[in-house]
Amino acid sequence: MEISKRTYSMPYSSVRKLVPYEKNAIKEGKKVYHLNIGQPDIKTPDIFYDAMKNYKEETLEYADSRGEKSLIDSVIKYYSNIGVSLEYDDVFITNGGSEALMYAFFATMNSGDELLVPEPFYTNYNSIAKVAEIQIVPIKTHSSDGFLLPSYEEIEKSITPKTKAFLITNPNNPTGAVYSHEALRSICELAKKHSLYILADEVYREFIYDDEVKHISLGTMQDVRENVIIIDSISKRFSACGARIGILATKNKEIAQMIMKLCQLRLAAPTMGQIGAAQLYNTPISYLKEVNLEYKKRRDICYESLQKIDGVFCKKPLGAFYMIAKLPVENSEDFCIWLLENFDVDGETLMMAPANGFYVNPEEGKDEVRIAYVLDCEKLKKAFNILDKGLKAYNSRNK
Ligand SMILES: Cc1ncc(COP(=O)(O)O)c(C=O)c1O
Repeated sequence: MEISKRTYSMPYSSVRKLVPYEKNAIKEGKKVYHLNIGQPDIKTPDIFYDAMKNYKEETLEYADSRGEKSLIDSVIKYYSNIGVSLEYDDVFITNGGSEALMYAFFATMNSGDELLVPEPFYTNYNSIAKVAEIQIVPIKTHSSDGFLLPSYEEIEKSITPKTKAFLITNPNNPTGAVYSHEALRSICELAKKHSLYILADEVYREFIYDDEVKHISLGTMQDVRENVIIIDSISKRFSACGARIGILATKNKEIAQMIMKLCQLRLAAPTMGQIGAAQLYNTPISYLKEVNLEYKKRRDICYESLQKIDGVFCKKPLGAFYMIAKLPVENSEDFCIWLLENFDVDGETLMMAPANGFYVNPEEGKDEVRIAYVLDCEKLKKAFNILDKGLKAYNSRNK
């Protein structure tokens, strides 16, 4: 029997690709520090669990296809506080931001259409694009300048008659870049000029660490409100990845109707996750402030530790909890596997994500890794000590 080209052509997640090696390392008794995956170790606020304990319905029914009204109301209030005015009909609750992304792809593009994405980009965009038969056209960004967006003119060169949308991840996974007002305005002007959608993946919106850096939501840009589709999630904001609750928001009524059909197709997002999520939006602002302080410390440790390692290059990331580091190796996947298979410091080793999976062409980014700083400061220090010693040992093999 044949299998579909659609699924065959999908890559395995580069974040999870090395799991078999990790399992073996653990079987051999090694402790592995996980810097490969964006699973925060931050405690989920108690109100999430309390809401579930207080849920007294006798039957766990499907939620409404659009989403639980109480959660949609919470989301609308949250957005109005950041200057984005939404109504009930503009909001959909999805199975994580992942489902919101898929629906945004399906509703805006046809097979063969082109999607412009700053590269390197979140690895799952590649998989969704394969399933939707959409071509990702990279907007090249570079570690040397902190992965800034290129100029309006430069980006415009990549637009063809097949281009249908931008996908802007801000703050960015995997680079940690946060885009300026000017850079975002270029995207908006191009979207207007060429009638393009803007898929705005803002799941890391709150994760910004320096006073002089501000996050600007594309949802606040009035002149492109028909173009913008916001992708959002509670996974990182409230450290609730397992709830599987995301949000898609759009002021475009036609797109909203298409999204509604897709939401009906999968019946509903999880009822219990939505009950908890509605309460999470009542989390005091002090929680997010504390979490940010913790991530800032971690970001600084990562950056400073990497600066001290011979041959490693990275710029200080501004947001999210990721960074791309260039390593003094030819093939970072080989190095990452070697760390898991052959190296430890006092029984401890390290897992990172080879960065080539964050590019359209897996031949690019081969000397880079993506680091997720989702471990506490002490663990991070140990992990970077392992990286330093590991690089020296790896590069002195066969010498
Ligand atoms: C940029 C970005 N968008 C979307 C998602 C999807 O997250 P979730 O499905 O947990 O909401 C992630 C997860 O890591 C991400 O990094």
